[in-house]
Amino acid sequence: MAADNNHIETSQRFAPPATRRDFLGLAATWSAIVAFVMAMLGALRLPMPSVFPESNSRVKLGRPDRFALGSATYFSKLRLWLFRDEAGFKAISSVCTHLGCVAERGVDGQYLCPCHGSKFDEIGAVKGGPAPKGLVWVDLSLSPEGWIVADTLSDVDPKTVLQA
Ligand code: FES
Repeated sequence: MAADNNHIETSQRFAPPATRRDFLGLAATWSAIVAFVMAMLGALRLPMPSVFPESNSRVKLGRPDRFALGSATYFSKLRLWLFRDEAGFKAISSVCTHLGCVAERGVDGQYLCPCHGSKFDEIGAVKGGPAPKGLVWVDLSLSPEGWIVADTLSDVDPKTVLQA
C-alpha cells in the first residue's frame, strides 16, 4: 500500500517559502531583526564603562619590609619610583608631563626626559625643557593586609609620606 503524496495536506502557516525570492526576502527580514536586536543590546551597554579607572589605578607594590631604608626602587611597568627614607615611603611617576615619555633618573637623583629634553630636579620640579609641570607624586597607602598600595592616578604634594 503506497502512500499518496498528492493528498498530504500541508499547513499554510508553516509552509516553506514557495520561491527563492520568498526565501531571500525572509532571510533578509530575519537578518535585519537580528541586527536591530544586537544593536539595541549594544546601545544599552554604552552607559556602563568597560573599565573602572579607580579600581585599576590602585596597585600593590609590596610589603614595607621588602624595601631597605634609603632605597630607591623602580617599577618599570608602572613607571614609578618608590623611595624609602627615615620619614617613610614616597613614590613619583617617571612619566614626563610634556608628552608622556618616560623620564630617566640619573645618579644625582634628577630626571631627564630623552624625548624633548625636559629636566626635573629631585622632587620632580621642572628645571628645563618643554614640560608644563613637574613629575607627579602618587598617593601611597597600606592595604588591610599590610601591603603598600600606590594610586597611580593620584597627584599629591611632594612632601606626602606614608609611614609604615
Ligand atoms: S615627552 Fe618629555 S620632554 Fe617631551
